[in-house]
Amino acid sequence: MSHNLLKGKKGIIFGALDGNSIAWKIAERCHQEGAVFTLTNAPVALRLGTIRQLAEKTSAQVIAADATALPDLENLFKQSMEILGGKIDFILHSIGMSPNVRKNKPYTDLDYDFYHKTMDISAISLHKTLQTAMKHDAINEWGSVVALTYIAAQRVFPDYNDMADAKSLLESITRSFGYQYGKHKKVRVNTISQSPTRTTAGSGVKGFDAFISYAEAMSPLGNASADSCADYCVTLFSDLTRMVTMQNLFHDGGFSFTGVSEEVMKKFMP
Ligand SMILES: NC(=O)c1ccc[n+]([C@@H]2O[C@H](COP(=O)([O-])OP(=O)(O)OC[C@H]3O[C@@H](n4cnc5c(N)ncnc54)[C@H](O)[C@@H]3O)[C@@H](O)[C@H]2O)c1
Repeated sequence: MSHNLLKGKKGIIFGALDGNSIAWKIAERCHQEGAVFTLTNAPVALRLGTIRQLAEKTSAQVIAADATALPDLENLFKQSMEILGGKIDFILHSIGMSPNVRKNKPYTDLDYDFYHKTMDISAISLHKTLQTAMKHDAINEWGSVVALTYIAAQRVFPDYNDMADAKSLLESITRSFGYQYGKHKKVRVNTISQSPTRTTAGSGVKGFDAFISYAEAMSPLGNASADSCADYCVTLFSDLTRMVTMQNLFHDGGFSFTGVSEEVMKKFMP
């Protein structure tokens, strides 16, 4: 059902790889709510994924951009403003990748070139995106930027590896740049801390299936789906949340504030 919450708004959506991607669901919901946007992903993801199908469904144009490359980001903003006919109102940063996780390097034996890549792709890319947008004055007043994160930024989940450090940095950039962009142009910047969700990036984490069941048992509302994440994200892009900025917002069915659940306790009862 549409409420036209994003009618007249223009956006850029990073990170839709295939139909399981959280960004894919968010793009579909934004389209339903009346937004127009461009879709972007790394050149290799455009070749391997199915983003063109999403582009067709949402009448969006696809622009290739490696989110760690400043010239790509400059081109992305320039082209998006041309295609959409003006400045941007919302941006979704839905990007994560750790070569250490991919290559099964444990946290105590990291490859440091990989570690830099994890930080650059998964966290510093948000800074690069915001800095490029600010330089080109590409975001309208009261615009909204949302990045996706995970609770491993606050609590230890051993198999999340160096992505935990990347998410901590991502959330810190959200606060620091959120302050600057708020002062400068009333642009807001927030992160959504999402439940574990079956996607290409999620499934790369060791023991993911067991972990998703554990999180389900620990969350009073159960795990939050990608579809409900899309609903929440729409509210953050809308004018109904204009005074929310610099926040890390848990969207996890209550997982983050649950010490233990009855379901989990039962497993340890005699
Ligand atoms: N799946 C989960 O359990 C979960 C939970 C909480 C947060 N998140 C976060 O949600 C976001 C989206 O992940 P997802 O689970 O939808 O998986 P996904 O694999 O569908 O999305 C990750 C995206 O990052 C893109 N990407 C990688 N390197 C890039 C680069 N250099 N430039 C531009 N794009 C690049 C990929 O192409 C892909 O589209 C990530 O930030 C992830 O950490 C996921």
